[in-house]
Amino acid sequence: MSENILVTGGAGYIGSHTCKVLAQAGYSPVTLDNLVYGHPWAVRFGPFVQADLLDRATLDRAFDEYRPSAVLHFAAFTYVGESVTDPGKYYRNNAAGTLTLLEAMRDHGCGRMVFSSSCAVYGLPQALPLTEGHPQAPMNPYGVSKAMSERMMADFGLAHGLRSVCLRYFNAAGADPEGGLGEDHDPETHLIPLAVEAALGKRPPLQVFGSDYHTPDGTAVRDYVHVLDLAQAHVAALRYLESGEANDASPCSAFNLGTGRGASVAEVLAAVAAVSGRAVPHTMGPRRAGDPPMLVAQAELAEKVLGWRPAYTDVLEIIRTAWDWHATGRGAVLLDS
Ligand code: UFG
Repeated sequence: MSENILVTGGAGYIGSHTCKVLAQAGYSPVTLDNLVYGHPWAVRFGPFVQADLLDRATLDRAFDEYRPSAVLHFAAFTYVGESVTDPGKYYRNNAAGTLTLLEAMRDHGCGRMVFSSSCAVYGLPQALPLTEGHPQAPMNPYGVSKAMSERMMADFGLAHGLRSVCLRYFNAAGADPEGGLGEDHDPETHLIPLAVEAALGKRPPLQVFGSDYHTPDGTAVRDYVHVLDLAQAHVAALRYLESGEANDASPCSAFNLGTGRGASVAEVLAAVAAVSGRAVPHTMGPRRAGDPPMLVAQAELAEKVLGWRPAYTDVLEIIRTAWDWHATGRGAVLLDS
């Protein structure tokens, strides 16, 4: 029988794609999600437990019933701006939620975890590309909640033998080219879905947040990484933990996940136009508070240690999958409903 893997947040964007890749790799994903932002339609690859991470009794029942060999922990609130105005919501759900999960894992003897972390743990870059050793000075409670979770995992490693991997995503983007899974946030704040939906005429014109940055074209630069590549990295991290390479000397490791290539907001809009054959209606606006001008990953450590390399290295190809999802995949149906 294949191993059960508990996937918190498995009904969300990155979690659901990872469940699909896990199933393809021969694992049995068990999704645990409170459905605050996750979607029942995205749970398609194994059993589902509807529960909040802070609900310890239900967590205990899930561990008793499924006896997972590892946990992939995606469940988190991710709206950076909201984390500034309502920090308690983020510390409770993301930080206290992780703590509750870690204690449940300890008490049920589940000793492996892969965590959805973020480049937000670094804060404003002092040097680019960002390496895993860059100082951590997160600029908002969302980033702090991720850094706190990483720290808890390291401490549980020292005290209780937890073996864990923190995957620091840069900008997750794109969709499963087979059409059944994709990005569907409510509210949507991310650049690529907003640009695609504006091009489709299903949203008002996009506002470009800042055109006076010290970047080649004045707009902000990000490292967009395909959601299926992120999913593959989780399987690679799981295998790394199973191999026993994580040990007492290094119980908790962190890896950047990006392509190492930046794309500016203007380049993203041009790519959406090229893929769709439609201009993206937009206006120029002021900078968004707290946005760094440029974030690009140095992702060689993930390649060296996990053997992970992104299959999608061209932002145009990433955007093509996002376009297909919103224009013709299930995303199109969701947009119209
Ligand atoms: N942008 C616009 N207009 C919009 C939306 C975004 O110009 O309407 C710009 C942003 O200013 C930024 C870029 O497009 O320069 C990308 O913005 P996203 O909101 O898509 O993504 P962020 O880089 O702000 O955020 C991502 C993740 C967060 C994570 C953060 C780490 O979504 O979860 O990276 O920096 F915390």
